[in-house]
Amino acid sequence: MQHLISMDDLTISQINDILDDANRFKKAKTNPALLRGKLLFTLFFENSTRTRSSFEVAAKKLGASVIHLDPSKSSTSKGESVEDTFANICAMDPDGVIIRHSSNDIPRILADMQTTPVLNAGAGNYAHPTQALLDLFTIKEHFGDTSGKRVAIVGDIANSRVANSIMALFPRFGIELTLVAPDGFMPTEDKFKKVDNLAEIIDSIDVIISLRAQLERHEKPVFDDYEEYASHYCITNEVIGNRDVVLMHPGPVMRNIDISDEMLSDKRSKVLTQVTNGVFVRMAILKLLLLDS
Ligand code: CP
Repeated sequence: MQHLISMDDLTISQINDILDDANRFKKAKTNPALLRGKLLFTLFFENSTRTRSSFEVAAKKLGASVIHLDPSKSSTSKGESVEDTFANICAMDPDGVIIRHSSNDIPRILADMQTTPVLNAGAGNYAHPTQALLDLFTIKEHFGDTSGKRVAIVGDIANSRVANSIMALFPRFGIELTLVAPDGFMPTEDKFKKVDNLAEIIDSIDVIISLRAQLERHEKPVFDDYEEYASHYCITNEVIGNRDVVLMHPGPVMRNIDISDEMLSDKRSKVLTQVTNGVFVRMAILKLLLLDS
């Protein structure tokens, strides 16, 4: 049984298959027969605009049925454990469960029960593998090849599950990462080049991935004043100038703190292309987990 909890769950060959399938799905748009008769549950213990709807659109384009169980209206609010909620969902014989949770460990714990494929749609600050895959797809689509591309991740890297999954994925595809953040947002690991000022490396990068301050995961405020933070880390036209740089963000974007209004509507911004691509990448992931494994 194949799960997708972290990037370690996929081989290079499987990731290449996902990228190729996503490309085919983007050209073909739909394939309503592929997952006909399959049943998926979505179980989101944290809010989501993009990931949940993207998975639902992806499943429906492939002919699968999707049931959304709202945890706030489920029996978890009466004290039922997540494991018991999951076991009861599995007793209805789904073909997969897509889960988002504030805990780093819950998706893996449920996967280890080995009752149905589990897809991690975001776990604490640990991993968001489908976001990293759609980001990789978007970079490959733009450049044709990822090898040797230089990507700067800018913002609250220390608390970002997206950054963790990107750091686990991109180097496997020859991408060189630089982390750009102030002290409070810089992770402790030492595998990548680190700078506190984007201007230092702006002339030597191909892609900027801006990240939101993950306020919901800060035990105490990291900065008193996000206007002051933005004056150093917001991606503006002043920062980028006329450089040929692709601008990305997983969303939700804090306008004029992460990226300026002007840069969000600039043709170098791929923020909505990422959302579009997310559907095709998740179609490919569903195909892999529900049919190919
Ligand atoms: N990128 C992302 O995870 O967005 P949502 O929180 O809206 O799903």
